[in-house]
Formats: sequence, structure tokens, C-alpha cells
Amino acid sequence: MNIGDRLEAIGKLVPQGCVLADIGTDHAYLPVWLLEQGRIAFAIAGDIAEGPCLAAKNTVSMYGMKGRVEVRLGSGLKVLQPKEAECIAIAGMGASTMIEILSEDMPLAVEAKRLVLQPMAGAASLRRWLCQNGWCIVAEDLVEDGRHLYEIIAAERGASASFSDAELEIGPKLMEVGHPLLAKQFARQIDGYKKLLTNMGKSEQAKLSEKYLAWEKLLQELEALADACNCK
Ligand SMILES: C[S@@+](CC[C@H](N)C(=O)[O-])C[C@H]1O[C@@H](n2cnc3c(N)ncnc32)[C@H](O)[C@@H]1O
Repeated sequence: MNIGDRLEAIGKLVPQGCVLADIGTDHAYLPVWLLEQGRIAFAIAGDIAEGPCLAAKNTVSMYGMKGRVEVRLGSGLKVLQPKEAECIAIAGMGASTMIEILSEDMPLAVEAKRLVLQPMAGAASLRRWLCQNGWCIVAEDLVEDGRHLYEIIAAERGASASFSDAELEIGPKLMEVGHPLLAKQFARQIDGYKKLLTNMGKSEQAKLSEKYLAWEKLLQELEALADACNCK
């Protein structure tokens, strides 16, 4: 089964031998691939919509994984029983949806030994939320696919170091390990804020707003951090 670089990178952060809950599973490619690789013991594949659950059931039977993946229809972590999932993966949705899913069922979320998250947008806000809510970022990865640079975050319960806004934008573990795509990550964030500020700067009123001033400061911090990491 070929699931692509993004899903493979997510899978590589799932601990060996665990029971995985893949929330927002869609076709259940991630859990079925992990089972094929002998990487997980069992999986619960949850999705809020019927279509993706049907697609997931098809994948499960096509790959002979009945009895090893349970497909469940429902919202977020509500498909889980207490102590069922050792690792929770949530991939391919926005950070705000992920935060909603985790905070709606905090007792279930904190029981998991590890969260593996791949937000499509808002990774900095997700990192901030994790660190403020008793998780510690233990590993991160970046995957390039065409114009996209996907960010993957693994977190476990524990006290977190405190990070600056610029570090939360980039990813503290990506900086710590000197990820090969770190310079691209800096360039992407810096370009994004430059574009935002140029557009906002067309209005004199917007230029005086708190948001503009905060983003201007963040851009300066990002540029200084890029310099410090030799990523300019
Ligand atoms: C873009 S797909 C991502 C599929 C897969 N996780 C991946 O990364 O390739 C997003 C899936 O999340 C599901 N989803 C969205 N919100 C959800 C929620 N609150 N609970 C469970 N599933 C949700 C959608 O129905 C959809 O199948």
C-alpha cells in the first residue's frame, strides 16, 4: 500500500505496538498501512461523516484488516471508550478543529500516551495550545509535497519549556534537530507575514491596528531567529 510521504511521516511518529485512534480517518489509509507494516496492534478509525466511514470500511476489507481496525462513525474523540487509545492521530484538518476535538473530550485526550497531529493551517496556535494544556512537543517533522510544506507534531503529557511566538511559528523540535527543510519553513513563514503586512499596509487605519503591530513584531522576531539558525 502506498500512502504517500505525508501520511508515512505521520505514521512514523506513532509508537511501535500501540493501539491507535485515527480521528478523521477518511479512507483509513494510515491505520491500514501501519498494520501492514506491523507497527501497531489495533486501530480505531473514526470519522464524523458517513461517506468517509464507508470508504474506510472498504479499505479495511480490501486489505484484509477486518478485526484489526474498527471503523466508528462519530465526532472527534466521542468514538472512543476510556483507556482505549494509546496514541491519537488527527491529520488533514485545521488546528482550530483539532483544538476543539481535543478540548471537548480532554479526559480521553490526556489518557493517550501520544498525540500525532498534522494541521493543514494554524500549526503555531496548535503548538501554543498544547504547551498551555499540559503537553510537551516531543518530535516534529516537515514533509514537502509540491507547493505544500506539511507540519507534523508529536506531543506527550508533561511540562513544556516556554517558547517565543517565533519559535511556535517555526516548530521548536524542527529547530532543535536542524530539520533539512528548516530554511524552507522559515522562508514560508517570513514570506507569509510579509505578504499579510503589505496587504494590510495599504490602509493607514489597518497599519495602526494592534494586529498589524503584533505581526510586524513577529516578522522581526522570525527574521532574527532565522539569522540565529543560519536559515537566511
Ligand atoms: C481531509 S480529511 C483527512 C483524512 C486523513 N486524516 C488524512 O490526513 O489524509 C478530513 C477528515 O476529517 C473528518 N472530520 C472532520 N471533522 C471531524 C470531527 N470533528 N471528527 C471526526 N472526523 C472529522 C472529515 O469527515 C474528513 O473525512
